[in-house]
Amino acid sequence: MEKKYLFSPGPTMLPPEVLLKMAEPIMHHREPEFEKIFAEIRQGLKYLFQTKNEVLIFTSSGTGAMEGAVSNLLSKGDKALVVRGGKFGERWGEICKAYGIEFIPVDVEWGKAVDPARIQEILKSDPSIRAVYTQASETSTGVKHPIKEIAEIVKGYENTVIVVDAITGIGVFDIPMDEWGLDAVVSGSQKALMLPPGLAFAALSDKAWKFVERSNLPKYYFDFKKELKSSKKNQSSYTPAISLFVGLRESLNLIRKEGIEAIFLRHEKLARATRAAVNGLGLELYAPDSPSNAVTAVKIPEGVDGEKLKDLFFEKFGITVAEGQDRAKGKIIRIAHLGYYERLDMVMVISALEMLLKEMGYGFELGVGLKAAEEVLMK
Ligand SMILES: Cc1ncc(COP(=O)(O)O)c(C=O)c1O
Repeated sequence: MEKKYLFSPGPTMLPPEVLLKMAEPIMHHREPEFEKIFAEIRQGLKYLFQTKNEVLIFTSSGTGAMEGAVSNLLSKGDKALVVRGGKFGERWGEICKAYGIEFIPVDVEWGKAVDPARIQEILKSDPSIRAVYTQASETSTGVKHPIKEIAEIVKGYENTVIVVDAITGIGVFDIPMDEWGLDAVVSGSQKALMLPPGLAFAALSDKAWKFVERSNLPKYYFDFKKELKSSKKNQSSYTPAISLFVGLRESLNLIRKEGIEAIFLRHEKLARATRAAVNGLGLELYAPDSPSNAVTAVKIPEGVDGEKLKDLFFEKFGITVAEGQDRAKGKIIRIAHLGYYERLDMVMVISALEMLLKEMGYGFELGVGLKAAEEVLMK
């Protein structure tokens, strides 16, 4: 018998309630029935993003919303600052480059969070910077960046916005958009929103909408102004992924039912248990100082083949974990716990980790990781 489990930081496992809704016969997106669903989704997304402003929805993967957050906010000749502490920080830079936007990279050692003082220093010395691009949770390294602190700094610059890739942050830990004064927050469906890949989200502050007004970079599909107009009529500009929207209404209902505060606490507990297990096993965290509650990056111990470990997870247990990317390839595995996960899911994946490490010759006493995790999970 074979069962499959996703412990990758996207796509993630899905609740049966959402799966069932998506299996219903498809409807037409210009019918009143769909508009009603759209209206509910708009409210649910505002609750999740903690904003009074509209959250735009695009049928694309999360990168689409990232691209839109460059092409809609900036204008020819604008300069940006990009926090590069992993694969997804690099992506902000690549998008800027594709649009001919000059950017100053703030390179951060992988596994570390950015020091906000470095951003302050650069903004002070170069007032021509129009946007600061960063991740809330850098999925490739398992790091959480200090968004609140960065936002405090950017607030002091009238002509600069802070743009946050919260693709593995939204619905995982607290990122109160309006309260912190975040100007743009983007996310994607296949993470804590408990949906398949295929939807991207972008929410903008009033300040950011002023940037959109003057933006003259080329754009077509990811045109925020156009999408806002459609959204306010409970429509999308183009044919949306209808079944995903239907699923989204359901996942947002589940999110509301649990409540975001409870959701943040659940993620914190699962993440702390995973980190405790790692420490209990005598392994090291890749991001010990500022770990994200979305995903735990674990250093592969000496003598263990990291890629093989990842492969064995799937071969022996049907479990997908993520390996390291680029410079972290073979050096880490990443165990995700964002979205539809609860305590016993973590017990399972930690147990699998123990069995595999044992087989691969890593020396430890079976059960020490589980014990450490259970002690956290029982509290
Ligand atoms: C932090 C972060 N940013 C961006 C992306 C890219 O999203 P997508 O693959 O949906 O385009 C991901 C996906 O893993 C991510 O985790």
